[in-house]
Amino acid sequence: MSYSRKCINIVNEEFEAKRLKNESQRQARLNEAYSALPELEKIDKELSKTGVNAMACAMGGKEGLSERLNALKERNLELQRARAELLLSTGYAEDYTDLKYDCPICQDYGAYNGKMCSCYKTRIIEEQFKQSGISSLVKTQSFETFSVDLYENCEEMKELYNYAVNYVKNFDKIKENVLLVGGTGLGKTHISTAIAKALIESGHNVVFECAQNVFFDFESDRFLDRFGGEEPVSTKYLDCDLLIIDDLGAENISAFSVSCLYNIINTRLNKNLPIIASTNFSSKELRQKYHDRITSRLFGEFNIKMFQGKDIRQVKKTK
Ligand SMILES: Nc1ncnc2c1ncn2[C@@H]1O[C@H](COP(=O)(O)OP(=O)(O)OP(=O)(O)O)[C@@H](O)[C@H]1O
Ligand SMILES: [Mg+2]
Ligand SMILES: [Zn+2]
Repeated sequence: MSYSRKCINIVNEEFEAKRLKNESQRQARLNEAYSALPELEKIDKELSKTGVNAMACAMGGKEGLSERLNALKERNLELQRARAELLLSTGYAEDYTDLKYDCPICQDYGAYNGKMCSCYKTRIIEEQFKQSGISSLVKTQSFETFSVDLYENCEEMKELYNYAVNYVKNFDKIKENVLLVGGTGLGKTHISTAIAKALIESGHNVVFECAQNVFFDFESDRFLDRFGGEEPVSTKYLDCDLLIIDDLGAENISAFSVSCLYNIINTRLNKNLPIIASTNFSSKELRQKYHDRITSRLFGEFNIKMFQGKDIRQVKKTK
């Protein structure tokens, strides 16, 4: 598991807020029931003395101890029965004043028996989708919704699809950089989202962003740097498990964006953290756009996967 600290903090705070909310709602129900039923408060006061009474029993010597403890236990059960009857007879549910949990399994702690609860995992994956920038895309773009039959070269696309599925399967062993190249509407973003979704679901920290926004973030960090501020937003591009840069080459290319791209590629190559980038541009066009120091890394260190055929947006329309 390597979910981002930011996601974990957000979700932990949420769970703490849930526990506080449920405790304060229970307190409010209890206060209301006490004011309607003063007898209930009396019973609870007596019940709350059980521990002290048990202690007093124990200190009273060994002789007759088990009888005294049994009597105390009996009294306790009697009070609990009286409490339930009182609530029921006055139109309340028997468990009206009990603490109610959003998740009864983990009692809103997110874990039980030392295991992560599924409610916590679901929430953290959702948050990671959000933080990674794919929360709206995952609804429609996944491996399940990727069809190879939409392509004329469906055999080649089947191979590409299998490559992507295996990329996810072997992600922890084989850290491969990939460059997805091809014209518009051929499924580059779709397959990238599918990879991101599957890896997030298996506990990885994935960041997915279009190139333009990546460089915006570095730009805004420059501003923060100058005036001081929080942690740079661009840090995530350098240290997440997988970075997906969509639409490389579509950004406004400047000396600054090129130096950011060089920094990202170089830093991640050195840390053995992979990148998947997609682009509409041919290798010739990329060479025109970027410095040799970038293209030599792109073509030397990235596995190039070509998308060919007709725009799937149009193919889907005519089907
Ligand atoms: N193989 C596929 N099966 C099902 N839907 C697909 C497939 N490929 C693409 N699509 C759908 O077609 C639309 C365009 O695909 P996508 O955005 O992935 O193309 P792209 O290659 O990233 O294009 P662009 O270069 O314009 O960004 C999306 O709605 C996507 O879900
Ligand atoms: Mg795209
Ligand atoms: Zn739970």
